[in-house]
Amino acid sequence: MPKTLIAGNWKMNGLQQALRESEQLKAQCRDGLGVDVLLCPPATLLKSMSDQLRDSIIQTGGQDCHDKVSGAHTGDISAEMLADAGASYVIVGHSERRADHGETDQIVQNKAAAAQRASLRPIVCVGETKQQREAGLALEIVRGQLSGSLPKGDYVVAYEPVWAIGTGLVPTIEDIQQMHDMIRAETGPEIQILYGGSVKPGNAGEILSVENVNGALVGGASLKAEDFYGIISAIL
Ligand code: PGA
Repeated sequence: MPKTLIAGNWKMNGLQQALRESEQLKAQCRDGLGVDVLLCPPATLLKSMSDQLRDSIIQTGGQDCHDKVSGAHTGDISAEMLADAGASYVIVGHSERRADHGETDQIVQNKAAAAQRASLRPIVCVGETKQQREAGLALEIVRGQLSGSLPKGDYVVAYEPVWAIGTGLVPTIEDIQQMHDMIRAETGPEIQILYGGSVKPGNAGEILSVENVNGALVGGASLKAEDFYGIISAIL
């Protein structure tokens, strides 16, 4: 069974002082926890956080990468640059990037392959909108995103229903189970499949006990060490 991965996505949140939260988390997450822990801060904090966490079990990751190694792409960051700043992972195809930056499945797949080229593990995000779920299309939509976005080789999948992100809404346990079973069938036995969307200390235990849920991608509740550790400890 794949190891559990609890990943925090800080999104566009966190000034230098937020490194106090990662310092606190470092003190809480001891060796032998048996869980992989990851923080994906904004790019401005990546190097300092990676240095801070070097002698801990917590790994760091980027929130996006360009598919090219370098070049005339103002404002973009390559996977090699993230690795150079200490990252081990990168999130690609988050629904906020698909929506805000028009990222297609093909773009996401290229970014995931670029991550692998730089020896980063890509966390490929997929998930349906509220309208698509209500129309009974959730499984079909996510299946299509998987076939268009996944790279060959090693990767992590994060199933994040768009309507559950930052809303406090969570699918039923049956719906999470059904989706994760489908993703398992489309990928393979070794692939880590994370659930994301309004995961909190109070619901993490139930969600993480679902078969084929191998961890969580956490937004809002990853910003405070206390909340994030509450999610991690839900499975200890
Ligand atoms: P949330 O975000 O936990 O704040 O719902 C999850 C995500 O977007 O990764």
